[in-house]
This record gives sequence, C-alpha cells and structure tokens, in this order.
Amino acid sequence: MTNRSSGESNSLQASHLRCIGCGVVCEKAKQNFRCADCGDLFEIVYPGWNLTRLDAAALRTLWRQRRTSGLPVDESGVWRFRELLPDFDWQEIITLREGNTPLYEMPSCARIAGLQQLYAKHQGMNPTGSFKDTGMTVAASAARRAGFHWVACASTGNTSASMAAYAARGGMRSLVLIPEGKVSWGKLSQALDYGALTCQLQTDFDGCMRLLNEVVQRSPVYLLNSVNPYRLEGQKTAAVELMEQFDWQPPDHIIVPGGNLGNSSALGKAFLEMKHLGFISTVPKVSIIQAAGANPLVRMMRENGGQKLISVQAETAASAIRIGSPASWKKAVRVLEATGGAVDQVSEVEIALAKAEIGADGVGCEPASAVTLAGLKKLVKQGFVKPGESVVLILTGHLLKDPEFTLKFHRGDLFSATESETEADILKPQQRAPIVLDATVDAVIQVLRKADGRLET
Ligand code: F0G
Repeated sequence: MTNRSSGESNSLQASHLRCIGCGVVCEKAKQNFRCADCGDLFEIVYPGWNLTRLDAAALRTLWRQRRTSGLPVDESGVWRFRELLPDFDWQEIITLREGNTPLYEMPSCARIAGLQQLYAKHQGMNPTGSFKDTGMTVAASAARRAGFHWVACASTGNTSASMAAYAARGGMRSLVLIPEGKVSWGKLSQALDYGALTCQLQTDFDGCMRLLNEVVQRSPVYLLNSVNPYRLEGQKTAAVELMEQFDWQPPDHIIVPGGNLGNSSALGKAFLEMKHLGFISTVPKVSIIQAAGANPLVRMMRENGGQKLISVQAETAASAIRIGSPASWKKAVRVLEATGGAVDQVSEVEIALAKAEIGADGVGCEPASAVTLAGLKKLVKQGFVKPGESVVLILTGHLLKDPEFTLKFHRGDLFSATESETEADILKPQQRAPIVLDATVDAVIQVLRKADGRLET
C-alpha cells in the first residue's frame, strides 16, 4: 500500500492477473474478467512473495497493533491485512470498516452435531449484513481507481446490496440485475436505499449473469461479480482474521456454503497462501455444502471428479445460493483438492432445521448460511469430521436478510402443500409462532406459566 506521505509503493504487494486455465499473465483484464486467449477466469498472484520472504511474526504484531489505530484503513478488518492484498493508495480506498467479524462458540449446535466444540465465524456481521463487503471494498476501490462511473452485478441479493453501498460511498452509480421474485425483501430494499438502478429480470441468477456479461462488453460498466478477482482478494481476509482469532493455530475443518463458488475459492486461496508464507503450519480442510436443489458442484465431484462443469436448474428457498452454473467452479475444485475438503448437499428441511438450531444458540443467520450446520451433521455421521476435531462454520449472511423465511418457518407455513410436508414434521419442536392475546396481564401470565411450569405459584 502507498502511504499518502511517502508516495512509495511496496514491491512485495506488486500483483498481476494470471489465467487459471492457460496461465497467461496480464496487467489488465477484459471487461468480463475472462482470459482473451482461453476464456477462463483470472486469479491475482504476487510474484514478490517468491523472491523475498515476508516476516510473518512481524506482520502478526503489526496487524494486531493496527486494531488500536483510528485510521480508516486500519479500522477496516480487510485493509488491516493489506500486506496480503493488491497495492492501493489510501485515498483510493472505499471502506465501510468491513471485516472485524465475531467468532462465536456454538455449544448447543456442537452437541447436536456430535462434536465437543464448534465455532461460527459470522460474516453476516459486516456493514451490509453479508460477507460480500469484504470483497467489495477491494473491487469497488479498483473500479473507482480505473476511472469507472458505473459498476454492475447480477445477484441473488447480497452482492447487489453490498455493491450498491460501496458504489454510493465511492461516488459511483450502480446497476443491479436480479431474478424477479427470487430475492428477499431485505436485500432488495438495501439496493434501493443505497441508490442502485435495480432491474428485476424474468429469469434466474444464471440468466442475469449471462446477460450482464454482454452488457459490460458493450458499455463502460465495471463488473463486480465474483469473477472479478479483486473481490476474492478481499474475501480472503476472513480467513486471515479467523487465524488471528485462533492465535494462528488452524482448526481441522472449515465448512462453507457453495453458490457461485467465489467465497470457498477465496478462503481456500487464503489458507494456502498463509501456509506458503509461513503464517500457519497446516491447512484446514475446506468443505463446501450446497442445497440439494442447487447442487452443480456436488454433481460434478460425484459424476466426473470435478473435471467438467455440470449445470443444473436451481431451486431452493435458500435464495442466496439458488445458482445452477457457478462461475468459479474450477477454483473451488482446486481448493477441495488442495485442502482435502468434502462436498455434500442438504435438503430444504435440513436447511430449515439447521437455521433454527443456529438461532437457538443466540446467533442466527440467513438460510444459505445454515447449510453449513446441516452439512456438518452429515460429515460427522460419515466419519469425515471426528468428534474431537475443531470445526468452524462460515455464516455468510445475517438473520434479518430474509425474515420472511423465518416467519414462515415458525408459523409452520414453509413447507405447506409441498412434497416435503411430511418430512417437515421434525421441525415442529423448533417452531415458536407468535401468540395473539387479549391485552390483559392475566392472559400474559397464563401463557408464561404454560411455557414454564416452574412459574406456577
Ligand atoms: N451465502 C450467502 C448469504 C450468499 O449471499 C452467497 C452468494 C453465498 C452464501 C454463496 O457464496 O457465491 O461465493 O459461493 N450470494 C451471491 C449474491 C451469489 O449474488 O449475493 P458464493
């Protein structure tokens, strides 16, 4: 990073784009962030890291010290780790003080999953309520630095909310393409409030993405989906912050939801880079869980060992991960192979149950995040995760992103008239519908006593 006063850039942070398919290196990608030679995606690499060794111990101390600084770049839980990010001038950075998310112990979920200890890193505690902010601060800054006035994304909701906020903070306009009727109200209202030009298209996320790829090639609009490798660099820092919270002792397993597969790719890249740079001595197994109705990665791994993309027609109430043709599938397969992680899928009822269980630990999350606990239970049953191992669930979105799902769950409406209605009987003990009462003290006390016999006098 370049400090305003020194004006010097750090050669260790010099980075370039490398195609993950043919390996070609370039300074500047085409508008769609696809390689001009082979059409594959780019990743950001730091050639200096192979020439000079970073001083891991000194950086750990520096990063901790920055937590007491009042500088915006130090207050950000992303830019605090800027030595692992592309080089930016401080005044080029758009930040909402993202990152700095809590790591929670999850005692009751641990018992349910059959583990001695379980943690959740809650990325829903970011400024716009999802992990997207950690990537958006980097990619939106790159957009503004490159001189763009417009940024754009296709989204299942969270990317659009985050992009719209960072664009507004950075004085840029934003274009959002979302699948009509498939984005929760919470997320849609965020995009509107932050001033995005919001288009609801009569297609799914994959259709929005295909269309936007054309739009960005025909207009001077900067693409902010996770095919943009700057997004993934920012999202890496959740793993770095997690290691700091664990005092640099890696857990055995990380469990992450899989949609467009950018986040699992980013976290995996971070762990592999931290190992390469000497910050950690082992790499956790990064496992990816998908909804059974939106399971292209699970199918690819099972049917062709991750060699070839299988697209599916996606359908799940966990609308954030309703994605049938994930852009970053090759990067995610590489992470699974390099870390030894597993893939699995979970049903709609399993997602709903896991979400309520995470809520019952006083934490809460949106449905897509709950696939992590639902998947973990399966991985424990299969023996892939052992009872004494340490596990971290990555919770990607805040509970309030999709209150409609939660209300339907507690009212018992989530699965009415669906094929899962019978399976959904197991949810009944978790359901707490609001009780409508006469406005009298007696009525309230009666309900209280019914809820807890110890209150009878
Ligand atoms: N969890 C939440 C809450 C999400 O919003 C998303 C993706 C994911 C998990 C999956 O992450 O795509 O990196 O594998 N949401 C995107 C969006 C697609 O448009 O908001 P991924």
